[in-house]
This record gives sequence, structure tokens and C-alpha cells, in this order.
Amino acid sequence: MTIIRVVVNGAYGKMGRTAVQGILGDPQLELVGAVGRVRGIGLDAGEAAGCNKAGIAIEKDLEACLARVKPDVVIDFTNPAVVKDSIRTILLAGAHAVVGTTGLSGADLPLLQGWSRETGKNVLVAPNFAIGAVLMMKFAQEAARFFPAVEIIEAHNPQKADAPSGTAIKTAEAMQGARGENPVVLGEEKIPGVRGGALNGIPIHSVRLPGYVAHQQVIFGGLGQTLTLRHDSISRESFIPGIVLAVKKVGELEGVVYGFENLLDG
Ligand SMILES: NC(=O)c1ccc[n+]([C@@H]2O[C@H](COP(=O)([O-])OP(=O)(O)OC[C@H]3O[C@@H](n4cnc5c(N)ncnc54)[C@H](OP(=O)(O)O)[C@@H]3O)[C@@H](O)[C@H]2O)c1
Repeated sequence: MTIIRVVVNGAYGKMGRTAVQGILGDPQLELVGAVGRVRGIGLDAGEAAGCNKAGIAIEKDLEACLARVKPDVVIDFTNPAVVKDSIRTILLAGAHAVVGTTGLSGADLPLLQGWSRETGKNVLVAPNFAIGAVLMMKFAQEAARFFPAVEIIEAHNPQKADAPSGTAIKTAEAMQGARGENPVVLGEEKIPGVRGGALNGIPIHSVRLPGYVAHQQVIFGGLGQTLTLRHDSISRESFIPGIVLAVKKVGELEGVVYGFENLLDG
């Protein structure tokens, strides 16, 4: 069994700590570094994640950490504002990147592909690592062929840095080809924005309330009927199997892959 040496960037965040739990729980993965920004610096990454002591302190400087520990893979769960810079730093350091941070879309792929070619390292961008969410996107793509009128409602906790969610963007992108040219009729908005924002003609509504983890409904309307696809991550544990699989497979990919679903087939 080849051990995969992993660094977590954003290790004190909610998802970073979840990723640390996943790594420490898998015998093929070894946590060799943990990076944060302000909170958690100096703490043991394992203890911060609610696990046993890992002997890895959370440190501040990603570049310095990578130069020192030379990991095989870096997992990034940081912030949409810095994610592109982090990916470049990770690839230039000679590691593959598993990117769970949202804020990227299909339009960013050419830039990442250029960096990947330059360094010979792979990138997996996955807005959602939960298998149920990936299936929801797949089913939505299928349903859009028959129900071109569709809207998305996603709900997350108020600390989420961006809106809409990466999952909502990916879902709208996935349905684009299937539903053809079907612009939505938004009507007069008595309150600006009340009909949501639209991507590819699909309205997206973002709810931010305490108590939510990550939730999405895709609602299709047809003649005398509606169809609702709904996925709820009720705990961040839902993301662990996907994160672990991504770390194990990213080295076998070719260049940049957008979407966790691409790791499931075959
Ligand atoms: N792909 C998926 O399945 C999935 C699931 C859930 C969430 N997400 C996404 O994952 C990202 C993180 O979410 P979260 O809930 O974990 O947020 P969070 O709790 O706010 O954690 C973000 C962490 O990143 C750190 N950070 C910010 N800028 C950084 C930088 N430049 N370098 C290193 N660390 C930095 C923050 O440090 P400070 O606290 O010190 O600022 C914080 O610890 C978001 O984009 C979210 O939408 C993805």
C-alpha cells in the first residue's frame, strides 16, 4: 500500500477539520501538514478536529509548509477570494490539488488547465463531495430534458462566504445543455432580486440561516405537475468518504477535472 502524504489548507475551518478527520481515519493517508490563516495557528491539527493528537501543528505559510514537507496532495478548503492563488502555489510546489473551496466555475478551468500543464500536476475541483448531492445533479440533468422550466433553492449557514453555492452553479451548468434554450420569465419584481439570480436562464435562490449545513432543492415545473429533487447534508461527515476518495484518485487524473462525479464512473 503506497502511503499518500497530505497537507490540509484551511485546516482550522469547518471543512478543513472534517478533512483532517477523514485523513486521520484512513490508513493509506498520512497528514504531514496543516495550514491556517489566523484562527488555530499553533494548535495540533488532530486535536483541533476533535481527534487524537496528530503531532502536526497548524501553521501560517502555505508555501513554506509545502516546501518543507513536500506532500503528494493538498486539500484546499479555504475561501473563494484566495482559492486560485492557493491552487497555483500548490501546483508549483509539486503537489496535486483537491479543491473543495467554492467560488470557481467552468469559466475558470482554462486558467487552471494552463497551470496544470505547466507543472504536470492534477487538480480536482469539487463543489460538493457528498454522494447524494452528486446524484441530485445527475438526476437534475436527466430531468431537465423533460422539464425545461426549473428553479434551484439552496440553503447554507450564514458564515458561508459566497452565494450561490458551488453546487447550485454546477447544477445549473449541468442542466444547460439538456434543457436547450429556455429563458425563464421573471416578471416584474416589486422587490429587486425577489426572483433570485439567474445562471443560464435558471433562477437560483440562496437562503442563509443558522442551523443549515448544505441543502439544495431543484424544482421542475411541467403541465399540471412539479418534480422536486432534494438533497440535505445534515452533517459534514457526509463529505468525508468523497474527500478521501478524491485524495486517493487525484494522482491518476489527467490535468483538471471539474466535479466529483467524474471519479465515480469506472
Ligand atoms: N466541496 C464541498 O463538499 C464543500 C462542502 C462544504 C463547504 N465547502 C466550501 O469550502 C470552503 C470552506 O468552507 P468552511 O465551511 O470550512 O469555511 P470556514 O469554516 O470559514 O473555514 C475556512 C478556513 O479557511 C481559512 N482561510 C481563509 N483564508 C485562508 C488563506 N488565505 N490561507 C489559509 N487558510 C485560509 C480560514 O481561516 P481564518 O478562520 O483564520 O480566517 C478558515 O479556517 C467554502 O468555500 C465552502 O463553500 C465545500
